[in-house]
Amino acid sequence: MKSQTTPSWLEDAVFYEIYPQSFCDSNGDGIGDIPGIIDKLDYLKCLGINAVWLNPCFESPFSDAGYDVSDYYRVAQRYGTNDDLKRLFVEARKVGIRVLLDLVPGHTSIEHPWFKQSCKQARNEYSDWYIWTDSAWKWDVPGYRTVSGHSERDGSFVSNFFYFQPALNYGFANPDPAQPWQQPVNAPGPQAVRQEMRKIMAFWMDLGASGFRVDMAFSLVKGDPSHGETMRFWQEMRAWLNGKYPDACLVAEWGNPNLAIQGGFHVDFTLPFAFPGYSALLRKPYGSGPGQDPYGFSFFDPAGLGNVREFFDEYMQHYETTRGKGQIALMTGNHDITPRLSKGRTPGDMALVFLFLLTMPGTPFIYYGDEIGMNSLEGLPSKEGGYQRSGARTPMQWDDSANAGFSTAPAEQLYLPIDPDPERPTVFGQDWDPNSLLNTVRKLAFLRRKHTALCASADFELIYAQAGKYPLVYKRSWKDETALVLINPSSRPVSLNLPDMGKKGCDVLYGAADSLQFWGDSWQVRLAGVSGAVWRLQ
Ligand code: GLC
Ligand code: CA
Repeated sequence: MKSQTTPSWLEDAVFYEIYPQSFCDSNGDGIGDIPGIIDKLDYLKCLGINAVWLNPCFESPFSDAGYDVSDYYRVAQRYGTNDDLKRLFVEARKVGIRVLLDLVPGHTSIEHPWFKQSCKQARNEYSDWYIWTDSAWKWDVPGYRTVSGHSERDGSFVSNFFYFQPALNYGFANPDPAQPWQQPVNAPGPQAVRQEMRKIMAFWMDLGASGFRVDMAFSLVKGDPSHGETMRFWQEMRAWLNGKYPDACLVAEWGNPNLAIQGGFHVDFTLPFAFPGYSALLRKPYGSGPGQDPYGFSFFDPAGLGNVREFFDEYMQHYETTRGKGQIALMTGNHDITPRLSKGRTPGDMALVFLFLLTMPGTPFIYYGDEIGMNSLEGLPSKEGGYQRSGARTPMQWDDSANAGFSTAPAEQLYLPIDPDPERPTVFGQDWDPNSLLNTVRKLAFLRRKHTALCASADFELIYAQAGKYPLVYKRSWKDETALVLINPSSRPVSLNLPDMGKKGCDVLYGAADSLQFWGDSWQVRLAGVSGAVWRLQ
């Protein structure tokens, strides 16, 4: 069932996440920028994506790569100007691409003027915009991370992530009467912060944004274990957006689609820190090996020792509660996840991951560089609060020129070093080869967008997905179109008989033309090792 309140463009959306620092540097200062992204719009269009999630691009001291905002209304100078961003919105739409910004509503930088005001001893407009205890000596508040000694104000502030990311005050769901500094959600401070967030969203929507990926969306209201008050906040935001910007899309960083979608989001991710099934699919902790836990492998490992139920038992529960209401996002990776998808995988292995992501229900996200199988770099010095995350944030590899075509700056000035491997994948190196990973991703992205049966809300039915077994088979259908997806990540060939599916004819849309056959009165699947296919049933 198509949902009533979801913007229709989400149905065939294929997202691409751009970490602006590392995508394309247009002015040779070693850091990617917005004009650089505009230069690559043709590349994105030909990749088959039609939506971009741009990591934070606002003024910031960049101690956490821009997730420490110091001015929500200004594009960081190093990326360009507000006019450049507006131009990106306009030029992207001309080639059918929508751009979502990254909204960081939960905390600012300690450099933000609001916070500097809030630190002052004399009460002022911003005193209650952050969460302060009532004494600088109250630094051991169970359940919270507090920072003392930073301000002339007598109090410690609650930080959300790193110490320099003070939590904005959305109030407490159940303020503790013994802790009078905990304000209720309807107190003036929390109400003012909520109004301000709405103003920020309207500002960028009016400039041409298509919505927001919302950082740590689950974390706004404190002392809210059921997330009821946080959900109420987002539901109000969604109701306001529905009225004023009905085409806007809100993507949560929550990791619990069941709650996030109930809470007003259009889309939520299966994030590894909150959704263990995702790791079981793509990223079991590295190093777990043969002879130990037989399920120490992810399903998409050629060893063929994964357990696809670890993913689907969790996924199906969320799918059933959210279908028709919102979308679950599956991603190749993101700026927080190391190693990248390519770790331990050949291009053929990765192609099957893309086959899966681009034929499942919901909203697929491709992390920049994963479409060519870029590697993560190990042991890099931490950049902008990246720590081990820095390894998955290195510059995009465009071609064989200096700095892989990312920048004309001297190599030592680059935001992060380029993968030094002489065999490193590049766009240029894969563009000409019809069988390259890049061209496979293009084929699959366009296949998804062409066939309504493969789109976000089309019906989904697992046909064969068994613990410790390969292949994976599922059916997608919409109106009179039915597609069958076959995936065998294992290096062993597999064959299987499928039950009657009410159809007797088929034509192959992608993959091996001998992988499915109607024989006698049943369907026979035959897949070589590490192979897959998409069939249309008639
Ligand atoms: C989110 C972001 C991450 C950031 C953190 C704090 O998890 O994805 O990169 O460091 O929030 O804002
Ligand atoms: Ca630049």
